[in-house]
Amino acid sequence: MILVTGGTGYIGSHTCVALMNAGYHVAILDNLCNSRIEVLNRLARLCPVRPDFVEGDVRDPSVLDSVFARYPISAVVHFAGLKAVGDSVKNPLAYYDNNVNGSVQLLRAMQRANVKTFVFSSTATVYAGPFDEALRESDRLGASQPYGHSKLVVEEILADLQSAEPDWRIACLRYFNPVGAHESGLIGESPLGAPNNLMPYLAQVASGMREFLNVWGNDYATPDGTGVRDYLHVMDLAEAHLAALHHLQTVTSLSTKPLTLNLGTGQGYSVLEVVHAFEQASGQKIGRQFAPRRAGDIAQYWADPGLAKQVLGWQAKRGLQEMCADTWRWQLHSAKDGEPS
Ligand code: NAD
Ligand code: UFG
Repeated sequence: MILVTGGTGYIGSHTCVALMNAGYHVAILDNLCNSRIEVLNRLARLCPVRPDFVEGDVRDPSVLDSVFARYPISAVVHFAGLKAVGDSVKNPLAYYDNNVNGSVQLLRAMQRANVKTFVFSSTATVYAGPFDEALRESDRLGASQPYGHSKLVVEEILADLQSAEPDWRIACLRYFNPVGAHESGLIGESPLGAPNNLMPYLAQVASGMREFLNVWGNDYATPDGTGVRDYLHVMDLAEAHLAALHHLQTVTSLSTKPLTLNLGTGQGYSVLEVVHAFEQASGQKIGRQFAPRRAGDIAQYWADPGLAKQVLGWQAKRGLQEMCADTWRWQLHSAKDGEPS
C-alpha cells in the first residue's frame, strides 16, 4: 500500500488516480487545509476502489505512527505542503514549519516504521539560473524566496539521509508548471480566491467569472515579450510519479544519492501562446491587457527532461491543446457541480 500525503490536493488526487488504476492500494493523509473531502467521492468514481483516508497533519507524530501501524505501507509519496510563493514571502515560518518540519516528521515516522521508499514533490524554483538554456538537474541551485528555499532544504536533508543510510530509496521530482485536469472533468485545481497562476485564471476569464487577464510584462527578452514556461499536463506528472515509484521499488543497485529528476515537457510557451491555445480550446474570446512585470518573475525557463526519459522511460505525452481543453472541461464541470477540490 502507498501512503499519499496531500492526496486530496491538486497533484496528489491525480496521482492517486494513476496509482490506483495501476493496481496500487492507496491511503491518503491530508489535513484538508487546501482541499475538500468531496474529492474522495470523485476518486471513487475514477478508480477501481475508494482510497483509504485519514484526516491529519504530517507534522503530528502520533497521527503518523497510527497510520503506519494501521496500514501495510511500503512507500510514501509526499505532496503535503504549502505552495504559494508570494504567501511564503509574507509567512516564511509557516512554510518552513509545514514543508521542512512536516517532511522531517514524516521521515522520522518512516524510520520508526522501517519504510524507506520516498518520493518527494520538489520544484523548478530550486534553480538559481542562468535560464537561457534548458535546465538540467546538475545546474546551479539557489532559491530567492522561502517556498523554493523550503523545498531546497528538504532536498538537502534527503541527500544527507540517503548518504547516511543507503538502504533508503528516494526520488526528488522537480516539477515545472503543472496544469490541466483529469480528462473526465471530475477532478482538477480549485484555487481559493483569485488564482495566482496563469491557467486557472484564464479558465475563469473564459467562463466569464473575471473580466480580463493581466499579462504581467510584455517587455521580456522572449520572442513575443511575455514570460515563457514549461507547462506540463497534471496526468503526465501523475504518470511520472508512478514510473518513479516503480523504479525505486525495482532498482537493484542501492544509491548514495537521491534520484533527482526534472519533470517537464522540454518545450516553453509564452503567455500569449497559452492565451491563444485556450481561446481555441474553449471557443471563448479572452480579454487581456498588458500590465507591469510581476515582482520576482523570471523571463523564461524550461526543463531538459532527458534524464527522466533515460532513467524512468517517462516522457510527457500531452500537448498544450490537451492541457487547455482539460482545464476548460474541469472549469465547466466545477462551475456546474460546485468545486470539489
Ligand atoms: P495542493 O495545495 O492542491 O495540495 C497539497 C495538499 O496537501 C492539500 O490537499 C493540503 O490540504 C495538504 N496539506 C498541506 N499541508 C499539510 C499538512 N501539514 N498535513 C497534511 N496535509 C497537508 O498543492 P499541489 O499543487 O497539489 O502541490 C502538491 C505538492 O507539489 C506541494 O508540495 C507543492 O509544493 C509541490 N509543487 C506544486 C507545484 C504547482 O505548481 N502546483 C509546482 C511544484 C511543486
Ligand atoms: N501570468 C500572467 N498573468 C497572470 C498569471 C500569470 O501574465 O494572471 C504569467 C506569469 O507572469 C508567468 C506565467 O504567466 O510569466 C506563468 O505564471 P504562473 O503564476 O502560472 O507560474 P509560475 O511560473 O510563476 O510559478 C509556478 C508555480 C510555483 C512554482 C513554479 C515552479 O506557481 O509555485 O511554477 O515551476 F514554484
